[in-house]
Amino acid sequence: MIRVDREDAVALVTVDRQDALNALDLLTLTMLRDELSGLAGNDDVRAVVLTGAGDRAFIAGADIKYMSGLGVEEAMAWGALGHEVGRLLETMPKPTIAAVNGFALGGGCELALACDIRYASSNAKLGQPEVNLGIIPGWGGTQRLARVCGLGVAKELVFTGRTVDADEAHRIGLVNAVHDPVLEKARETAHVLATKSVLALRLVKRLANRALGGDHAANLAAEGEAFGELFSSADAKEGMTAFVEKREPRFTGR
Ligand code: HXC
Repeated sequence: MIRVDREDAVALVTVDRQDALNALDLLTLTMLRDELSGLAGNDDVRAVVLTGAGDRAFIAGADIKYMSGLGVEEAMAWGALGHEVGRLLETMPKPTIAAVNGFALGGGCELALACDIRYASSNAKLGQPEVNLGIIPGWGGTQRLARVCGLGVAKELVFTGRTVDADEAHRIGLVNAVHDPVLEKARETAHVLATKSVLALRLVKRLANRALGGDHAANLAAEGEAFGELFSSADAKEGMTAFVEKREPRFTGR
């Protein structure tokens, strides 16, 4: 099942299927999609943290028992559902943070990769072991791992199926930091982000998502336009005035 807990403007989403190391079956992945979709459209929520229940796993992947019975059409639908979840994490107009508290394998690593920021506990193990099952990453791993760690590192990991520990994950840029307890670090960042201007964060996420694709000149032009437009916002006036007046800004999202 999926649990959602609210702490002020921060939503904490927990995948809780501990008897299967939080592997995602159809019901759990569908629930995750529905919860994330609700949080994406909820203006009271300004940052989302994704984690796994217990201290062994973030998400040990897609449920292999479920997948072992799928035909071609069903496998495509299963891939599409995971892509939908990944796109929600990647594009919802607020920051998403993965608190990787143990195994993040296959689809688990892929959903962590779809988040804006990743933190790992020191016992975390991440990887794309699909090749060992005779399949391939199907929830974005063939694309996002290369965007996060570079193509050479990504190819080695998806070709071999090798799992990396937290320190290596940090060294190759797969996670932003290693911290115990990892949830504390993720929550701390989420609460900091929740104090920022919603408008500025939304725009900067949208623009950052264009950084590794599309036309560079067009992306810079989009940045220029967004930068200028923000000057019509109360938040931009407040942020700069607060600096000049040597006080903390109070952003209203307008
Ligand atoms: C279903 C899983 C599972 C998974 C673990 N379990 N991972 N069930 N799908 N992905 C279950 C085990 O069957 C077992 O249940 C229980 O969780 C505990 O796991 P153990 O194997 O007993 O624990 P341990 O020996 O500590 O090994 C942990 C592990 C191992 C290294 C994480 O479980 C493992 O290798 N799991 C598979 C990881 C994986 O290959 N993930 C990628 C899947 S493919 P029982 O009932 O037997 O006690 C994928 C594709 C995504 O994610 C894209 C789809 C389109």
